[in-house]
Amino acid sequence: MKMNNKTVLLTGGLGYIGSHTAVEFLKAGYETVIADNLSNSSADIADRLSEITGKAPSVYVCDAADRNALKEIFGKHDIDTVIHFAGLKSVAESVAEPVMYYRTNIDSMLTVLEVMKECGVKKLVFSSSATVYGSSGRTPFSETDPAGDCSNPYGRTKYIIEEMLKDAAAADPEFSAVILRYFNPIGAHPSGLIGELPRGVPNNLMPYITQTAAGIRERLKVFGDDYDTPDGTGIRDFIHVVDLARGHMAAKDYADSHKGAEVFNLGTGKGTSVLELIRTFEEVNKVKIPYEVTERRPGDIAACYADVSKAKNILNWESEYDIADMCRDSWRWELKRNEEFY
Ligand code: NAD
Ligand code: UFG
Repeated sequence: MKMNNKTVLLTGGLGYIGSHTAVEFLKAGYETVIADNLSNSSADIADRLSEITGKAPSVYVCDAADRNALKEIFGKHDIDTVIHFAGLKSVAESVAEPVMYYRTNIDSMLTVLEVMKECGVKKLVFSSSATVYGSSGRTPFSETDPAGDCSNPYGRTKYIIEEMLKDAAAADPEFSAVILRYFNPIGAHPSGLIGELPRGVPNNLMPYITQTAAGIRERLKVFGDDYDTPDGTGIRDFIHVVDLARGHMAAKDYADSHKGAEVFNLGTGKGTSVLELIRTFEEVNKVKIPYEVTERRPGDIAACYADVSKAKNILNWESEYDIADMCRDSWRWELKRNEEFY
């Protein structure tokens, strides 16, 4: 029986969402252990976490599918809860490299589960995605809506893992798995020290907007203005990454007192269109975003936003930041990053 419930292991904890979550846990006094293979992050993020919080995480550069490395970490630290962020996340890349996506995402989850079992660790928080709702349902998406009709291999890895966790929880009455379906995280820490680090040409809307505003990209493409939405452009539930990070603290608290597998949407519950996001960004940051409307992007759905009542009622969590805050913080991060880089 473990007495210390103040040690968390964050796989992928140097990445975009993991680093913001690490800040919340470090600030709250948790011993914060990070295992990250640096495939989409850099080691200096750890220094930035210390700069923001005044506390240092323990960082291990290793793959989450490396059983020996994980066992060593569990041997050194009295891990109470694992938050599993590690994985590959590009929808387009998953279509081109499905085997790599299945191997990385499923293998790392299986290895983490096996080592947790061997070491008697019973609490897990998992990064799932609103993408599991697929295109068949109607917004707002609620946790009881059908899921699994995913349009790409990335989404399928998330759905398969959700099912694995439900089976694992059914087999072990002591096991707690909190499955978080994130909607669209944007924004960055208000310090400007950590944020998203897209490699190459961004696929997602906000990094494309900030890079266009910074002059790195000439023009933003708005993928379709003929959707059945008020202004014809796609609608998404953008959520500030700091709010999302706070959601992991609420999920960890829930896992402390509940067993079984439980799914929660993490979003704001509000839909914002692509054009609304562009206009808000221009207004609050006093910059221009040159854009043109092009064809729809294959696989996109018209609208995707969350029913957030379950997270509010059960996790006692809700978002606090609005779209203007998200635009301000995304832009601050882009500017700081360019300052450092050039
Ligand atoms: P990210 O790429 O910024 O962070 C992932 C981190 O995991 C990186 O630091 C990377 O180096 C590390 N990593 C990758 N594979 C690893 C492995 N096998 N072993 C150890 N470390 C590994 O991504 P993110 O945006 O922070 O996403 C975190 C999680 O949330 C992912 O599982 C992602 O699928 C999920 N998610 C993200 C979004 C989003 O829009 N950002 C939406 C829904 C779900
Ligand atoms: N969009 C543009 N131009 C761009 C990029 C995006 O118009 O250059 C539009 C898209 O068509 C969509 C909206 O902006 O209407 C949001 O697109 P993103 O690519 O930013 O986000 P998605 O909703 O497509 O997908 C994201 C993550 C997925 C995750 C999903 C649900 O990329 O991994 O949110 O959480 F599964």
